[in-house]
Amino acid sequence: MKNYKDKYGPWALITGASSGIGEEFARKLASLKFNLFLIARRKNLLENLAAELESEFSIKAIVICVDLSDDNFLEEIKNKTAGNEIGLLINNAGLGSVGEFAVLNPDDEIKMIKVNCLAPAILTHHFINKMLERKKGGIIFLGSLLSFQPTPFSASYSATKAFNSFLGDALWYEMKKHNIDVLSLNPGGTDTGFIRLSGKFNNSSLIRTTENVVETALKAIGRKPSVIDGLINKILVFGGRLLPRKTLINLSGLISGKLHEHRENNK
Ligand SMILES: NC(=O)c1ccc[n+]([C@@H]2O[C@H](COP(=O)([O-])OP(=O)(O)OC[C@H]3O[C@@H](n4cnc5c(N)ncnc54)[C@H](OP(=O)(O)O)[C@@H]3O)[C@@H](O)[C@H]2O)c1
Repeated sequence: MKNYKDKYGPWALITGASSGIGEEFARKLASLKFNLFLIARRKNLLENLAAELESEFSIKAIVICVDLSDDNFLEEIKNKTAGNEIGLLINNAGLGSVGEFAVLNPDDEIKMIKVNCLAPAILTHHFINKMLERKKGGIIFLGSLLSFQPTPFSASYSATKAFNSFLGDALWYEMKKHNIDVLSLNPGGTDTGFIRLSGKFNNSSLIRTTENVVETALKAIGRKPSVIDGLINKILVFGGRLLPRKTLINLSGLISGKLHEHRENNK
């Protein structure tokens, strides 16, 4: 396994580190001896995690408690990270919405778009310039299987994930000549609070673990622009590419509609 800390720099900044995939990134990167900036809103969870990782791995872990949908969220992150070399930026924080677009609360939709799209773009723009000066660094964007197919009943969520995948893939190209590795990481159903809340795929054998997802990311970064976690997920995406767009959307709507119906009936 390559020495990620030497390759990228001593600090990793992880958004959405209080649970799920972000928490697993924190655990894995701490074991690789990165110092960590842990970002989310749930202060207790972040502080407990920071204390645990500091004592287990003899690293530094600094908590930054911010709401990434706030307009001025970058100010606090800028202040707290100033003077530290952020080698790895993990744009992981995200939330989903499920239901018919026309009846979803527009304020919630806007908040999701801010957290899922605006925050990664703003953070990346801030940290990439410092990576360019140092001529090294790594950035990960969280896409999804839904990045590859418009998904009725998760219409704007799937669009936010496509935004991340596209941004990551295109930046991979722009940054490769500067020795900065960019990756769009596309998990399918993964066992986190996120998928439990969305009510999708409960108890399905398709579900992957957060450990699977983070391992997939660390293997892929620096080797390719984009990765899909899990063989079955890869097959689903490649199968989808063979279909005409209209058929793909109809199929996606049929499956997503059934899941939505099931969820509504079990409320
Ligand atoms: N689980 C899946 O099946 C799956 C599949 C594909 C892609 N993904 C993507 O993976 C990423 C992580 O999701 P997860 O499954 O690990 O879900 P999760 O356990 O719900 O984690 C989401 C994280 O985002 C943070 N977050 C949410 N809103 C925030 C806000 N306004 N400000 C700051 N932080 C915020 C949460 O922290 P606080 O609540 O403490 O703020 C939490 O740490 C997301 O981008 C998601 O789209 C997940």
